[in-house]
Amino acid sequence: MKQKGLFVSFEGIDGCGKSTQIKLLRKRLVKEKRKVIQTREPGGTPLAENIRNLILHTHTETVSKETELLLYAAARAQHVSTLISPNLKKGVIVLSDRFADSMLAYQGGGRNIKTDEINKLNEFATGGLNPDITFLFDLPSKIAAIRMKKAGRKKDRMEKEGIRFQEKVRRAFLKIAASNPKRIFVVDAKLPVEVQSEIVYAAICRVSRITAE
Ligand SMILES: Nc1ncnc2c1ncn2[C@@H]1O[C@H](COP(=O)(O)OP(=O)(O)OP(=O)(O)O)[C@@H](O)[C@H]1O
Ligand SMILES: [Mg+2]
Repeated sequence: MKQKGLFVSFEGIDGCGKSTQIKLLRKRLVKEKRKVIQTREPGGTPLAENIRNLILHTHTETVSKETELLLYAAARAQHVSTLISPNLKKGVIVLSDRFADSMLAYQGGGRNIKTDEINKLNEFATGGLNPDITFLFDLPSKIAAIRMKKAGRKKDRMEKEGIRFQEKVRRAFLKIAASNPKRIFVVDAKLPVEVQSEIVYAAICRVSRITAE
């Protein structure tokens, strides 16, 4: 059975503006009285949020890249099965701050785990569910770091990896976008907030018309 809802993911390196844009889109859709939920990865359900804390907190032992990968996948499996899929079936627009592409970019591009392995794990965790549309907010990591510093944000374990790691992740995201040109919409995250928000909204209108047909 075809899902009635619309699944939208927001991707990009830390500090590129995902949360800013997802909030603006949700507000606009709520104003239009559309059924919409906003969620995030890792997390989105009580169990998955607990896994998020495990992933993002600094531990007294080294976290192996395999452990990290499996924790992300476990959180995603719970998120999809208990929150995303049930809502899509009810016809809700689901906006997710990060999804499977983040694992490909961070654990693949950033940590050098083989793409095939990550794809297999993602397929297992999501049951083959893909976003209808993904926005990739592309920003040089130096600018992202300046924005986060300005906002006075405390860095989590992943954000502490530094500029070079973030730049590797950024390049991986762009590669993923190039391989999925129909699904992934690259937004220039250097643009002003309002301009990006209009671009996102216009793309959503276009996609919801197509999926409604
Ligand atoms: N277009 C923009 N121009 C300038 N500053 C921006 C823009 N978009 C967002 N910012 C600012 O950059 C900072 C990071 O934005 P935001 O929290 O939305 O990024 P994020 O991608 O959600 O980061 P994270 O991955 O760490 O959650 C915030 O202080 C935000 O106000
Ligand atoms: Mg955010």
